[in-house]
Amino acid sequence: MKIAMHGVSKAFGTQRVLDGVTLECEFDHTLALIGPSGGGKSTLLRLLAGLDVADSGTLFVNGSELPQDEGALRRYRRRAGIVFQAYNLFPHLSALENVLLPLTRVHRLSRSAALDRASAVLRRFQLETHAHKQPALLSGGQRQRVAIARALATEPEFLLFDEPTSALDPEMTAEVLDVIAELRESGTPLILVTHEMGFARRSADLVAFVSNGGIQECAPAAEFFSAPRSEETKRFLEKILKY
Ligand SMILES: Nc1ncnc2c1ncn2[C@@H]1O[C@H](COP(=O)(O)OP(=O)(O)OP(=O)(O)O)[C@@H](O)[C@H]1O
Ligand SMILES: [Mg+2]
Repeated sequence: MKIAMHGVSKAFGTQRVLDGVTLECEFDHTLALIGPSGGGKSTLLRLLAGLDVADSGTLFVNGSELPQDEGALRRYRRRAGIVFQAYNLFPHLSALENVLLPLTRVHRLSRSAALDRASAVLRRFQLETHAHKQPALLSGGQRQRVAIARALATEPEFLLFDEPTSALDPEMTAEVLDVIAELRESGTPLILVTHEMGFARRSADLVAFVSNGGIQECAPAAEFFSAPRSEETKRFLEKILKY
């Protein structure tokens, strides 16, 4: 997957959350975005998802420039499979109906084609016995697996996950991280915002450090953690790896 950003800025009111972000990178499977709370990771991911538009600058994903107008953005969003930290699922729908909804409504598959795809993906994530349960009857880990299954069922060009494990206890976190690690086999590239440093180190191809309105550093995972270049990255890693 290829990302190119030039001078990307985004402000909320008077707060410049992203301030002239420039990054060109290419990776096989996983790009992890890490950094302090409030640093702009989610804002950056929302721009890449086409859920928000930059105030200025250009963003290219796999060679095509992100559009500005709503119609083109809607088409662009269909290329992405998105999972956020929590509250991903419609509470009144079963796991199966949650997976079916974007397939029939957004991707315009027939009900039977959508059912085939949804059943296959729920099976793949060992969720078939839970298919008819509403989210309230599922564990947090199962809910996030349904959300991941729903994103993959649309056969996206790439996946965007924003802290998919941050609302989970350690055991469920491990369960969901295992699923994310297995996604490598499916070959769909993934951009993942995470606070799980061990996971980023082991599973990401590239790690980018987002802080103070910019990307301070982007490097292969091993290099990023063993020999961070920017002072800010060093301080951040020292602080969070202390315990
Ligand atoms: N829709 C919005 N309206 C106003 N301010 C916003 C909005 N979205 C984000 N912000 C502000 O922008 C800054 C960056 O937020 P962002 O959510 O991108 O950070 P983050 O790196 O994802 O943090 P965290 O690790 O806590 O999720 C924060 O100060 C936040 O309050
Ligand atoms: Mg965030």
